[in-house]
Amino acid sequence: MRNYDIVIFGATGFTGRLAAEYLAEHLPAEASWAIAGRSAQKLEGVRDGLGRPDLPILVADSSDPVALAKVAASTRVLITTVGPLLKYGEELVKACAEAGTDYLDLAGEQEFLDTMFVKYRDTATASGARIVHSAGFDSVPHDLGTYFTVKYLPEDVPITVDGVVQVSAGISGGTYHTVVNYLSRLRQWRAAARARASIEGQPAGRVSQNPSARPTRRFGFWLVPFPGVDGQNVAYSGRLLDRYGPDFTYRHWIGTRHFAAAAGIIGLVSTLLVGAQIKPLRSVLLELKDPGKGPTEAARAKSTFTVTFHGTGGDRHVICRVSGGDPGYTETSKILGEAAMSLAFDDLPQTAGPVTPAAAMGDALIDRLVKAGITFELVEERPAK
Ligand SMILES: NC(=O)c1ccc[n+]([C@@H]2O[C@H](COP(=O)([O-])OP(=O)(O)OC[C@H]3O[C@@H](n4cnc5c(N)ncnc54)[C@H](OP(=O)(O)O)[C@@H]3O)[C@@H](O)[C@H]2O)c1
Repeated sequence: MRNYDIVIFGATGFTGRLAAEYLAEHLPAEASWAIAGRSAQKLEGVRDGLGRPDLPILVADSSDPVALAKVAASTRVLITTVGPLLKYGEELVKACAEAGTDYLDLAGEQEFLDTMFVKYRDTATASGARIVHSAGFDSVPHDLGTYFTVKYLPEDVPITVDGVVQVSAGISGGTYHTVVNYLSRLRQWRAAARARASIEGQPAGRVSQNPSARPTRRFGFWLVPFPGVDGQNVAYSGRLLDRYGPDFTYRHWIGTRHFAAAAGIIGLVSTLLVGAQIKPLRSVLLELKDPGKGPTEAARAKSTFTVTFHGTGGDRHVICRVSGGDPGYTETSKILGEAAMSLAFDDLPQTAGPVTPAAAMGDALIDRLVKAGITFELVEERPAK
């Protein structure tokens, strides 16, 4: 018997606090939940801010496996917003995999996903725990948007989807530190990908991939390949779900109308990539933003995202779109909260082990997000050229 339906670990951080606010406003009255983190005093402050004096508080440090095991065993669904996950995340994945507890995080670090896959896939599959990484802006709009697009294409044919992301938003100190630290680990990242590929492989008789790409001009945009976990997560959904057909390819792009903006994105990513490799430069980069802070409410209210999916399969071409407000924090906390409620309360397909949002929650999570104000739409449907 578990004490809680949902526990959120990291509720004192910028994103965790927003996710706790979302749960406080949207959980059904009969749901039982708790906030968790490493500092009782800070958690009391969050609880006061939520106006929930009776909300239980669980104290655990991410380096304390015994305390984490107790937290994992106390709940059906565990959300974590503690990051960087490569630094703080492993023990909690292990605890949830062992306890059979459903797990959600905001991982944008592919190395973390691949390492957890290799180490805990079998434990989680045996215990029944659904391990769902990247359950925020990374990668839910892209993963569910592709799932939504594929449904408009014929079955049992090769399918190609290009996702074009347009974002106008700021990022938090926690996200910035995660990105810079992650970019400094290219060698480890590649090694983790190889280790996962060697045990995962492709499903029998099918293939699903996210090949590397070069900047290009298509769909009326300048397109720059979008680095990060999204493309890999979508391709993993393609391996988990037969509906994606015998030969599925996903490419993930940042789209901009102007060549100068595309050149600016390439310049920024290259600067961060080079700077992150050299320790003194990395320290300088990390000092530019402090963890714990993020875009103001006013800035977030003006932020938006749109992801446009161009899908081709057999004789059909479709364009679908997912759009919403501030991607990194307002929508991320909404997505995370709805995903936790979906795992806890919805009637979902039977899955276990490392699963994507599309494979674990699919239609149920789309329904929830649409009700919560994120748009999923079919824009155009026509014969393929
Ligand atoms: N991919 C996405 O879509 C997306 C979107 C938003 C955020 N994120 C990720 O989410 C993570 C959090 O971002 P953020 O801006 O919210 O960061 P943040 O404000 O710095 O919050 C970090 C949280 O981690 C906690 N923490 C740090 N060390 C800990 C430890 N040893 N044990 C237990 N808790 C510990 C902090 O607790 P204290 O308060 O006690 O310091 C705080 O609650 C980052 O990795 C970021 O990349 C991803």
